[in-house]
Amino acid sequence: LAIDWDIEAAEKGGYSHFAIKEINEQPEALRRALLGRVHQGELRLPELDALRASGTLDNILRIVIVACGSSYHASLLAKYAIEKWTRIPVEAITASEFRYCEPIMGPDTLCVAVTQSGETLDTIVGVRQAREHGSPVIAITNVVASGITRLSDAVLYLHAGPEICVVSTKTFVNSVSVLYLLGLYLGQQNGQVQPEQMRKLLDEFERLPGQIQDILDKANAPDDIIAPLAQRMAQVRSMVFIGRGVGYPTALEGALKLKEISYIHAEGFPAGELKHGSIALLDPETPLIGIATASHVYDKIVSNIQEVRARDAHVIVVATEGDEKIKQHAHDVLYVPSALEAFSPLLATIPLQLFAYYVAVARGCNVDQPRNLAKSVTVE
Ligand code: G6P
Repeated sequence: LAIDWDIEAAEKGGYSHFAIKEINEQPEALRRALLGRVHQGELRLPELDALRASGTLDNILRIVIVACGSSYHASLLAKYAIEKWTRIPVEAITASEFRYCEPIMGPDTLCVAVTQSGETLDTIVGVRQAREHGSPVIAITNVVASGITRLSDAVLYLHAGPEICVVSTKTFVNSVSVLYLLGLYLGQQNGQVQPEQMRKLLDEFERLPGQIQDILDKANAPDDIIAPLAQRMAQVRSMVFIGRGVGYPTALEGALKLKEISYIHAEGFPAGELKHGSIALLDPETPLIGIATASHVYDKIVSNIQEVRARDAHVIVVATEGDEKIKQHAHDVLYVPSALEAFSPLLATIPLQLFAYYVAVARGCNVDQPRNLAKSVTVE
């Protein structure tokens, strides 16, 4: 008896592509990131003990997060959460700009470098500069002993497991999560996060892997709408993504996923900025995805979505389960479970990844190795 198989098919574990395998691995990957760090309402990051013991973290007045690509989008999201939890000003800067902008750094500015590969040249050079100015450096990476780890005072690993697909899925979710853990740790340190609040936030955190699993289970059911919707959208020339607050970096990441693997032109905008130019792009041939999960700016994003609908654009909305009202403003609604506002991007991202994946498959694209892209960019 001859069994027909090859190593790559075996590595994909029954999935057609690494992309969809890795999307489906996200609950487990996130559980690994939380393992040993979040337990019974307590947060432990022993990786930072030495920095804390040296007093370095007591004197931090500013945090600069340096990253590229999806890691940069994770950093933009973390800016909101870390500022909220620490009241320390946070800047998220794309590394290729940071390294050439004569950055103002020093011992009271913590540099956080986010790079799943740990080898992205721009991020590494940026970190070298931060060090030269005396900034302490914390690296967040997925790859043990990668280049960035040798330049850092402390390393927080993503524990996402190997990511083979060129575009980032599970490492994006884990980057956001580990940045959030860092924010909570610093907030605990400087007394901005009280024990009661910490317990509540960590409880919510621990619910996330199960909630992501619920989204995936629904998406894998035969009656789900994401794959057929993607099929219908597969021939559009351009798409617009909008969000407000944490919905904005979520929109950026959704647009990046779509352009990376389907080659459809896609842009993410802050919803309130749309009227200052980009709304001119909208017509019946340009679908829009709005991130309208429950948040303090929910009413604002809904009114932006109404403006778009008035331009006859096809409107798809990512919303919180139970929000029936949103249906009157959208042609299609992709629901995600209810979560605290800060955590909602970790859920809203999942249908956007799936949408990009199914569009790419419908277009016959090379999903795991898109043209012109590399997993790790070690040149300028
Ligand atoms: C490349 C990849 C992206 C990734 C970016 C940053 O461009 O194609 O998916 O987000 O590099 O990679 P890093 O390893 O630094 O997170």
